[in-house]
Amino acid sequence: MTAADWEWWQKAVVYQIYTRSFQDSNGDGVGDFQGIIQRLDDLRELGVDALWISPFCASPNDDNGYDVSDYYSVQPEFGSMEDLEELIARAGERGMKIMMDLVFNHTSDEHPWFQESRSSLRNPKRDWYLWRPAKNGKEPNNWDSFFGGKAWEWDPQTGEYYCHIFSRRQPDLNWANPAVREELKNIARFWIGKGITAFRLDAIHLIGKPLDFRDFPAGTGRAFRVWENTPETHAYLQEFYREVFGPFGVFTVGETGGTTPQSARLYTDRKRGELTTIFHFDHHHLPDNHDIHALLRNWELWQRGLGSDSWDAPFLSNHDLARVVSAFGDDGVWRVRSAQALGALLLTAWGTPFIYQGEEYGVPNAIFEDRSSYRDHHSAYLVDQFLKTGYLPDEVWNAYRSSTRDNSRVPLCWNSHDHAGFTSGTPWMPIHPRAQEINAEKDRSSEVSVYRFFIELIKMRKSSPALWRGDYRVLSRSGPVGVVVRRDKKGQRAVIVLNLSSRAHLMDLRSFGRSYLGKGLTLHLGNYLREEKIVEQEHPFYRPRPQLGEPLQPQLWLRPWEVRIYL
Ligand code: NOJ
Repeated sequence: MTAADWEWWQKAVVYQIYTRSFQDSNGDGVGDFQGIIQRLDDLRELGVDALWISPFCASPNDDNGYDVSDYYSVQPEFGSMEDLEELIARAGERGMKIMMDLVFNHTSDEHPWFQESRSSLRNPKRDWYLWRPAKNGKEPNNWDSFFGGKAWEWDPQTGEYYCHIFSRRQPDLNWANPAVREELKNIARFWIGKGITAFRLDAIHLIGKPLDFRDFPAGTGRAFRVWENTPETHAYLQEFYREVFGPFGVFTVGETGGTTPQSARLYTDRKRGELTTIFHFDHHHLPDNHDIHALLRNWELWQRGLGSDSWDAPFLSNHDLARVVSAFGDDGVWRVRSAQALGALLLTAWGTPFIYQGEEYGVPNAIFEDRSSYRDHHSAYLVDQFLKTGYLPDEVWNAYRSSTRDNSRVPLCWNSHDHAGFTSGTPWMPIHPRAQEINAEKDRSSEVSVYRFFIELIKMRKSSPALWRGDYRVLSRSGPVGVVVRRDKKGQRAVIVLNLSSRAHLMDLRSFGRSYLGKGLTLHLGNYLREEKIVEQEHPFYRPRPQLGEPLQPQLWLRPWEVRIYL
């Protein structure tokens, strides 16, 4: 591969914006396009290349935009089409692209297509959704919904069930119908015409339902495997690629749960022509988030498994997950240091890294005492189901607090003023309980800042081929410290040392062989560097901080959550 063959997205860092919680500009308590425009210079300063904007088409908000009622218009709460066009143009002036979130597995039940579809058995739109008669007086098969309960809803008007893999207000589209596919392609082309150059494809691994609608085999747990990542899905994506993604050269990332590196290649292998890359969730399903080696080995496995014809999209947080510093880090005394270390983990990974809003300020979970502060009724529904099965309320409620999607959806805190600078009105969801202590302004002006460290990390990644395109090998095998080496085919090497624990640790590198030591690798970045203004103490137990430019030593004494990058 020559330099000219590398694509813009391979060197890029993407930033996800959950619009309703990013920045409100008009005081209605909901973030909007003009709010994003106000913050574009900050994002440029951070160094990101593309903004993934969570769904912005018109929606009744049963699932905050993941239930679209009109694919050709924007959600009025976020502004007008002109505002969106301005956002695309202003971001473009600053060298940033816009990635749109396409929700094509399902629509809202308020979408006119569904309204027509449910109106009669003979309506021309009937076959745009998945309707089935009852079987022995019950659901047509045993499929479950991701949001709890069965994936079928009885519709008395026409006496049939419709399929909904998510909520009953999100009926699944029938991709087997060519008219549906044609219309979805038109929608994608419409947005490309508006200047959208990248798509995130929501729940795209679910579009190709097996046409025999077979039951999932008894005793195999929940039904997801039956309709995930099917051959039909691949066929539809190849068609989409031939007619839309390929000709317009858009960057695509598909959300594909349940993939392994082998099955992911079916989506991402360039030769097959489907998607550019995918989000997989393997590293979010590890038994222990604090087992750094399980995590690093998982990333290594994906890099080897995807190989040179595919590409990955690593991420540690998004709008569906708990905050990374709470889930993988230490959101108590080591919050800032652990947020920095996790940033280094992400921004030295193989693939195109995705940062979720607030990660660059070390925002932790938002733990509210009062249940009414929470907004995501889909996770709340699951709580109620657990309570019915006899779990102790405290147990369920604590698990809910640490895992609910609301943790990452609470409005972003910009400063210590009213409503944390997010809005001048009443925010759509209560402000983060730790807003006074943790906000963007405070972090940026702190002696030790997560944001400023992210800026350094992104700068370093982009200027070091080993860090964005080098292969990924984990040298260490156990303990709290991970040692990764990344090597670019042209010869640059990077050694990344990550202490992902709240304890200091002495790391001995000698067992990894001589190849990395004594080969001119020097320290280029770290989160505990020696600085002029820090007077080092004369104490027998005091270990000096590392200094930029110092060579990689055989033994490293690392402070809690210390990271170092040697090039
Ligand atoms: C995945 C999205 O990320 C999530 O927020 C949403 O609820 C489901 N897909 C359904 O669209």
